[in-house]
Amino acid sequence: MARTTTTTTFKYLTFILFLTLVIQGSCDCSLNNINIGTTRSGREVQGQPEWNVTVINNCFCQQSQIKLSCKGFQSSESIDPAILSMEGDGCLLISGNPMKGFDSVNFSYAWDPPFLMFPSSSVIGPCS
Ligand SMILES: *[C@@H]1O[C@H](CO)[C@@H](O)[C@H](O)[C@H]1NC(C)=O
Ligand SMILES: *[C@@H]1O[C@H](CO)[C@@H](O)[C@H](O)[C@H]1NC(C)=O
Repeated sequence: MARTTTTTTFKYLTFILFLTLVIQGSCDCSLNNINIGTTRSGREVQGQPEWNVTVINNCFCQQSQIKLSCKGFQSSESIDPAILSMEGDGCLLISGNPMKGFDSVNFSYAWDPPFLMFPSSSVIGPCS
């Protein structure tokens, strides 16, 4: 009885390990690898503080159709829609174009307070 349980457990663990390898092997990158950093630029635009935002794809897989949650987003400084365009409660980054692994995209906006932006969806791959 004890021996059967051990064998089953071992098979189960082997299977998990196998699955993990398959998943990691296909693509190790996720939406969590899209990192967004916001820093104060020190400038003001129409009385609102300006913020420099850097979005980095911090993994080797390309990601496209990157959408950021940016509910209520406003800016007194115009932003090139080819870089960031609003779509409902979301913002589309670089018109949905692919961001290669470790690429970055920068933009600036001006508002007080700054907005909490985080990636909400993307299409991952291909991976190099
Ligand atoms: C903010 O972005 C502007 C425009 O790209 C740049 O000139 C400025 O040096 C940046 N400031 C900081 C603190 O990164
Ligand atoms: C974006 O800004 C960061 C920090 O200032 C810089 O390292 C990076 O090269 C910039 N990327 C682009 C595409 O301009």
